[in-house]
Amino acid sequence: MTELAVPRQHTATHPAPHEVRAAIETEITTRWPQDATGLDAIHHYALKPPSKLLRPLLLCHSALVFGASLHRVLPAAVGFESAHTGSLLHDDILDNDPLRRGRPAVHTRYGPEQAIVAGNALFFTLFANLAECGQRGVSDDRIRQALAVQARAGQEVCRGAAQELTLAGAFDSGIPAYMSMARRKTAVMLAAACQVGAILAGASLDEQEKLAAFGEHLGLAFQIRDDLLPYDDASGRSGKPGDSDLRNHRPTLPILLALDLANPADEKALRRLITAATYTPGAQQKLGVLLRRCGALTKARHTADSHASSAREALTWLPPGPHLDALAQLAKE
Ligand code: IPE
Ligand code: IPE
Ligand code: MG
Repeated sequence: MTELAVPRQHTATHPAPHEVRAAIETEITTRWPQDATGLDAIHHYALKPPSKLLRPLLLCHSALVFGASLHRVLPAAVGFESAHTGSLLHDDILDNDPLRRGRPAVHTRYGPEQAIVAGNALFFTLFANLAECGQRGVSDDRIRQALAVQARAGQEVCRGAAQELTLAGAFDSGIPAYMSMARRKTAVMLAAACQVGAILAGASLDEQEKLAAFGEHLGLAFQIRDDLLPYDDASGRSGKPGDSDLRNHRPTLPILLALDLANPADEKALRRLITAATYTPGAQQKLGVLLRRCGALTKARHTADSHASSAREALTWLPPGPHLDALAQLAKE
């Protein structure tokens, strides 16, 4: 047998890609057990039905590409999931959405006051957990570099959320304003998860930047696909309200594209629907018909696919292996 043909040894610290998700779930369960009380019980409720775990998976695979120990970076990965979940606790209040992950949102179940406080605590968890990576053997210098990246990303997410509020009802704001908002609100955090994974693993600046570019393109693809869910997800698999963007007068990419592509009669009907002061049942379905007819849904899907493909291209020249393949796979889903 040649050296190349020898199967890789996977261990608890250097696991196979399919073992990473279970390790993240175990880390979450250990931190917020079923019998948690007080604020921790709210966190258990928020974090336990596992999400897609996209951000922690990005962080772990990014670190494992460079041969890091999973044990050392897991706290930071869970920190990213915490901060993401905290942002959703607040987002559901801002969007007045009663459902998340197929269940009552945290503010529905515990009230908006508790949801705000619980969200705030989850942002601090991002930093507390990074410090824990230091206790597990990551050097102070890497922790300091990671700290700068994730703190800046958190600030950008808030800028993106504020920008989104400003854009409500601004249907003539244009696609560049949308892209700038989506980059801050969603893509920057995915880029940071990848870059922090690389930093904690000791990757070079060039390698970190490639992974950050991967995460940013993936994040843009991801946000556009999220915008498409109300039209693609008839069975409600996403577990969140399909009428949220319409109710909140969000100029999402499919709508901005439709305003450009629709014939004059359809554009008029479209403007009536998206600017209606009150939301009427059936409006979402009518919107879907208009967006489909002018090709806006197809064009938005192509835009998302093109960012996903740029994401995969950014991985070229990084050390090949199963964890790089796992990252590329995340950009295919
Ligand atoms: C939802 O994120 C918010 C967006 C950035 C679109 P996810 O779709 O990753 O939600 P969960 O965490 O898997 O539920
Ligand atoms: C997600 O925004 C919020 C953050 C990224 C902070 P959206 O409002 O687009 O996400 P969903 O659709 O509620 O998950
Ligand atoms: Mg929302």
